Amino acid sequence: MAREYAKHCPASPMKNSLLVTAAILLIIQAASCQRVRVETEVEAYPTESVDLRCQFVDGGNTKLTQVSWIWEPTEGQRDNIAVFHPTYGESFPESPFSGRVRFIKGTLTSPSITITSLKMADAGRYTCEYATYPSGNEQGTTNLVMLAKPKNSASPVVVQASTSGKPVVVAQCEAADSKPAATIKWMGAVGGTENTTSVKGPDGTVTVRSEYLIVPTPEDNGKEVTCIISQRTQDKPQTFPMKLAVEYPPTVSIVGYDNNWYIGRTDAVLTCQATGNPAPTTVTWTVMSGPMPDTVQINANKLIVRKVDEAVNTTFVCEVKNRLGVSKHQVTTAVIDPHTFHTRQMGKRDIDRRRVRKRGGWRRLKHPDS
Ligand SMILES: *[C@@H]1O[C@H](CO)[C@@H](O)[C@H](O)[C@H]1NC(C)=O
Ligand SMILES: *[C@@H]1O[C@H](CO)[C@@H](O)[C@H](O)[C@H]1NC(C)=O
Repeated sequence: MAREYAKHCPASPMKNSLLVTAAILLIIQAASCQRVRVETEVEAYPTESVDLRCQFVDGGNTKLTQVSWIWEPTEGQRDNIAVFHPTYGESFPESPFSGRVRFIKGTLTSPSITITSLKMADAGRYTCEYATYPSGNEQGTTNLVMLAKPKNSASPVVVQASTSGKPVVVAQCEAADSKPAATIKWMGAVGGTENTTSVKGPDGTVTVRSEYLIVPTPEDNGKEVTCIISQRTQDKPQTFPMKLAVEYPPTVSIVGYDNNWYIGRTDAVLTCQATGNPAPTTVTWTVMSGPMPDTVQINANKLIVRKVDEAVNTTFVCEVKNRLGVSKHQVTTAVIDPHTFHTRQMGKRDIDRRRVRKRGGWRRLKHPDS
């Protein structure tokens, strides 16, 4: 916590090129050179306690009369919070520190104090001030820096795929009530923009909020963005990886039709493939005109024709729904009559009947005329 002891007899200002000025400064410094040793800066956290050390060194013939601690808040009045007198002892004037401040040893040469139950508002300058004879007052000042760890959080924001082309907030990240303020950065492969704002709290803490904005497309759903929060009191930055949640209406397509639904074919299957977020729950198969043929079996997103006949020489429609919308796709299944097919083929091939017969395939195709 403690930084190094203050140098109360500062080194000569080497940067000053004017020797005369330097000499004058040295004289002033020598005259005011303090023998009150304190730490220049200490850091502490709320609810914890802190020791403010003070020591009078090289006393020589100087007579120490009494020592006081004076608190100077970041904003407001100086306040005497603790006094030590060799004869009258310790005294703690009425102050915001009443009951929270005590001397560690309580000697005139070492009047260090402890402050307990620290508050953010305790930040400020603490001066250890000696009344001496014959040189008068001598003092040393410690800056107490109150720190606060941020309360970090992050979450994706569920959005709908953009129809307007405007960027919207898809993730947010917050580092609340910290001192000093945290910094928030984003990492992600979706090319977003950031909007970071900070709000000061009443006790000197800062809440930093950052939003990540993109023009969401269905493709962005599930992509990762990471929020990185850095702050002085953290050993290392805290990272929050998040998966984007972009909702979009379904898109649907029927697959599996192979242009070869001949009469008598068994187990011809059409599959209705749908995407959408949330995942579409209802899949509805219909026939463009009329009722669903008897030979058709529906099993969720599959339409199965047990045996192809003229009844499935039609157009099948698949409709899927989610909260955001409906999507339809249709396919016309042209049933091939093997007789027509046979005749046509024979017409083409009657030049070489032998070869056709040899193949043997045609004979198996039963035709009402044969
Ligand atoms: C950034 O965030 C602040 C606070 O939420 C909001 O008021 C402001 O409109 C935002 N700016 C942009 C460009 O989104
Ligand atoms: C199927 O329908 C089309 C036109 O609607 C028709 O030309 C064709 O002959 C039909 N096929 C069968 C096997 O009935």
